[in-house]
Amino acid sequence: MTSYTQDDLWVWKTLFQRQRKNIPQKASSAYIQALERMKPVLNADEIPDFEKINDWFSKHNGWELQVVPGLIPVEDFFQLLAEKKFCSSTWLRAKNSLDYLEEPDMFHDVFGHVPLLSNPVFSDFVYEFGKLGCQFIGEPERLLQLQRLYWFTIEFGVISEQNKIKSYGAGILSSYGETNQIDLMKANFLNYDIEQIIQKGFRTDVMQEDYFVVDNFDVLFSSLQKLASHWQKTPILKV
Ligand SMILES: [Fe+2]
Repeated sequence: MTSYTQDDLWVWKTLFQRQRKNIPQKASSAYIQALERMKPVLNADEIPDFEKINDWFSKHNGWELQVVPGLIPVEDFFQLLAEKKFCSSTWLRAKNSLDYLEEPDMFHDVFGHVPLLSNPVFSDFVYEFGKLGCQFIGEPERLLQLQRLYWFTIEFGVISEQNKIKSYGAGILSSYGETNQIDLMKANFLNYDIEQIIQKGFRTDVMQEDYFVVDNFDVLFSSLQKLASHWQKTPILKV
């Protein structure tokens, strides 16, 4: 088990409280509900204990957090998702760089990603996404397309609720600046289009300019099924 310092606790608590206060009108209602639901194991007062979180999930929908040292091969990442294992780091950004954006730390992984894993439709989408990736291991172009899909949904997805753009992507919800940028509409909001998404490159080192808007999470799930059946009918010939 990782041991944490008082500074780590301060960082976790500060980030959690600041963003919890920031998101009520900006995060999707599904995310807010999920954060409330997981409050006993996910709150500002304690640095997440993965054993407790995994125990919580074992009584709900069977997801599990898997500690990873950093970036892992994409094949392993898909394999873990297909086993309902979500990768998380356990380190926290430094006290003097609260708005750190480069590599995902535990605040990104846990505050950003974990709550919606408790949402039935969304977590099924993530699970199916992992299974689809596993079917196409060895086809780098398709894995790249799936990474783009991941980026524009699970990381930077937004949803329309009562004609307002709300965030559900972890890359947004774990970033104070990005959450507010979207709220100020300083970005392009495009209709969700999986064909367009899988062809679209992205940058990890700047705030995003383009976001794809869904009306509900069922749209994500059904678009993935459509993509899967299309790909299954048109395998790429390996040389
Ligand atoms: Fe992430």
